[in-house]
Amino acid sequence: MNLSEAIHRRKTFAIISHPDAGKTTLTEKFLLFGGAIQTAGAVKSNKIKKAATSDFMEIEKQRGISVATSVMTFEYQGKLVNILDTPGHKDFAEDTYRTLTAVDSVILVIDCVKGVEEQTERLMEVCRMRNTPVIVFINKVDRDGRDPFDLLDELEQKLNIKVRPMSWPINGGRDFKGVYKIYDKSINFFEANKTKISKDVIVIEDLNSALLDELIDKDAIKLRQDVELIDGVYGDFEVDGYLKGEVAPVFFGSALNNFGIKELLEKFLEIAPFPQARMSDSRKVEPDENKFSGFIFKIHANLDPRHRDRIAFLRVCSGKFERNKFFYHVRLEKNMKFPSPFTFMADSKALLEDAYAGDVVGLYDTGNFKIGDTLTEGEKMLYKGIPSFSPEIFKELINLDPMKSKQLEKGIEQLTDEGVAQLFRQDPGNRKFIGTVGELQFEVIQYRLEHEYNAKCRFEARAFFKACWMTGDKAAIDEFCKYRQKNIVKDKDGNWVFLAETAWILNTAIQQNPKIDFHTTSEFKI
Ligand code: G4P
Repeated sequence: MNLSEAIHRRKTFAIISHPDAGKTTLTEKFLLFGGAIQTAGAVKSNKIKKAATSDFMEIEKQRGISVATSVMTFEYQGKLVNILDTPGHKDFAEDTYRTLTAVDSVILVIDCVKGVEEQTERLMEVCRMRNTPVIVFINKVDRDGRDPFDLLDELEQKLNIKVRPMSWPINGGRDFKGVYKIYDKSINFFEANKTKISKDVIVIEDLNSALLDELIDKDAIKLRQDVELIDGVYGDFEVDGYLKGEVAPVFFGSALNNFGIKELLEKFLEIAPFPQARMSDSRKVEPDENKFSGFIFKIHANLDPRHRDRIAFLRVCSGKFERNKFFYHVRLEKNMKFPSPFTFMADSKALLEDAYAGDVVGLYDTGNFKIGDTLTEGEKMLYKGIPSFSPEIFKELINLDPMKSKQLEKGIEQLTDEGVAQLFRQDPGNRKFIGTVGELQFEVIQYRLEHEYNAKCRFEARAFFKACWMTGDKAAIDEFCKYRQKNIVKDKDGNWVFLAETAWILNTAIQQNPKIDFHTTSEFKI
C-alpha cells in the first residue's frame, strides 16, 4: 500500500460529550461493529467514579487504566478508524482540549433529555477554533426527551453552528417507533436490544405511500409534516459545508440499545475527512509528503513509583513514522530514535513498526518532551494549533522549604511541561502562579512535587478571573504592563499575560486600551 492509499483509508476522530450523555456506550458499540471487542462491557469507562472525586490517587489509577483505551483502532469496510478517547472528568478538560487538536473530526453526543450542557459548549468552542467537522448524535431517544425541533434550535443557538438532520425519530420515549433515514428514505424500526443490531429496515420510496400508514399508523401524518418542514427549513445537506465545519449533520438513536449506530458509523466513514494538511509555523504540511513529521499532544505520567515512566502521545502528520529510525526533535535540536513505540489497543499495547498520518504513536519518555513538541526528518518547523486556554482557578505556589528551591523549580517546570497545569511567573520576586481548570490538579502537583522532586509547597488562592494573552501595539502593551505590574505575568514561553480579577476589570481594560487585543487562548490564528 502506498502512502496516499494508507492515508485515504484512515479516519481519526474523537467522541465528545458532557459526562453521562453516552460517550462510553457509543464508543463501545463502534468497537463491537469493528470487531475490536466481542462483548459489550469490555471498554473500561474512563469516567471517574463519582465516589472517587475527592481522591486523586484513585482517579490517577483509573486514568492509568484509561491509557490503554486512549486510542482505539479498528477496521470497518476497508477503513482504518482511530478513536481518540477524551477524559470525562471536568478537571481534566485541558486534556480533552489538547486531544481535539490531534483529530480530524468529532462526533458530539447529546442527551435528548438534557440537550446542550455546559461542557458541550466548551468543547464545541475548541472545535470551532480549528473548524473541525462535527457530526451530532442525539442519544437516548428511547427516553422521553425534548422535542427534536427544539433540540435542533438549541444546538444552533448554543453551539453556534448550522445543523442538518440526517435521520428523524418517529416519536420518542415509550412510544418510540424507530428512525426515518432522510438520506436514503428508509425506516429503521426500533427494537430494544443491547447486543443485537437492528435489521428491520424498510425502504419507503414515497412518504405519501399507503405503506407508511400501514407501518406506523397515525404517526405517518406527523412524520410527513416533520420531513416537509425539515426539507424546507434546513435545505440540502452538503458534505462540503460539513467538511468546512459550517454544518453539523445530526443523527438520532440510542447507543445503549444499539439503535441508529450502524447508520451513524457508516455515514461517518463515508463523509468524515481523512487525515488533513496541518499548519506549522513556516508552512502547510500535506499528509502525503514523503518526509515524516508529527507533534506531541498529550503526556501521561505514571504515578506508580515502581513505573515512573511517562508516555508521550505523538500524532503523525505526514510521511511514515518508523521504529528505530532517527528523527529530529526540533525544540531540543537533537536526533532521537524510538526502539519501542507502541499502538494503543482496546486491551493491550502492541509494538509498532510504522505509522502514517492520522495515527497516534505512544512513546516512552524520560523527560524529553513537552506538549506541542514537533518531530521531523530534519526540517526546523513547529506545529501550531495547540493553544493554552485561560485557566479557571489560580493559586500562588509557596515554597515551604527554602533549601529545596532548585528541586521545586525543576519539578514545577516539568509538571507544567506535561500539561498538568499552567505556570505563570512574575518578576520581580519570582512569584509563581498556577492556573488550572479543576481543584484536583493542585493536589496532584503537591503530591508529585513531594514524592518525585522532594520539594514541599502549599498554595494560596488568588482571586483572578481570567488569564489574557496580549497582542497588538508594542508600546501600548509595554505601557499597560508598567501600569498594571501587579497583574502582569509571563507564561512558559515568555508571553505577556494579564491576570484580570473580574469581568468588569477586564472589560474596562479592553475599552481603555484599544491598541491591545486581549485573548483568552494563547494562540490566536491557526
Ligand atoms: P459517558 O461516557 O458520556 O459519561 O456516558 P456513558 O456511556 O457511561 O452513559 C451514561 C449512562 O447513560 C449509563 O447509565 C448508560 O447506560 C446510559 N445510556 C447510554 N446510552 C443510552 C441510551 O441510548 N438510552 C438510555 N436509556 N440510556 C443510555 P448508568 O446507569 O450511569 O451506567 P451503567 O450502570 O448503565 O453503566
